[in-house]
Amino acid sequence: VRIEAVVDASILASGAGLFDDPPGVAASSRFFRAAGHHLLFAFDDDGHPVGFVTGVELVHPDKGVEMYLNELGVAPECRGRGVGGQLVTALMRLAKEVGCYGMWGVTEPDNAGAIATYRHAGADDESSTVLFAWHF
Ligand SMILES: CC(C)(COP(=O)(O)OP(=O)(O)OC[C@H]1O[C@@H](n2cnc3c(N)ncnc32)[C@H](O)[C@@H]1OP(=O)(O)O)[C@@H](O)C(=O)NCCC(=O)NCCS
Repeated sequence: VRIEAVVDASILASGAGLFDDPPGVAASSRFFRAAGHHLLFAFDDDGHPVGFVTGVELVHPDKGVEMYLNELGVAPECRGRGVGGQLVTALMRLAKEVGCYGMWGVTEPDNAGAIATYRHAGADDESSTVLFAWHF
């Protein structure tokens, strides 16, 4: 596959089906304008998007910048062929290019695919975390 940064709405629309929900106009234009927000697509040989990853640069006043791997998804019919791994590796490469000291992400304990993909891409399992969320 070919992995490229998505920087405009028409390319984004071509891969709308990869997301949980179709990207909205207001949210996606805000995403493209937001500093430190990255979206990469994986394109198959025919130029169709078959996977995506999003990453956000988190800036600490004391530590510098780290990349948060926000979402990763591969079209069901294209899974198990290395696409997810290549997307994670590409985001790692980008993170290094923009000066991040590391990258992290979370997944559910029963998400075997994501766990295998992150391990395969060299991540350490740091599971001793309790996750809290506020919903507005
Ligand atoms: C997680 C996901 C992105 C993986 O994408 P993928 O293209 O299938 O991953 P890869 O083919 O690159 O696989 C990477 C490694 O994980 C392993 N793997 C992938 N899916 C697996 C599964 N369901 N169970 C066990 N291992 C799996 C592969 O065998 C490979 O390991 P190997 O190279 O040692 O053989 C994909 O399954 C997906 O889109 N899932 C739904 C969305 C999701 O859960 N995203 C993550 C949320 S945090």
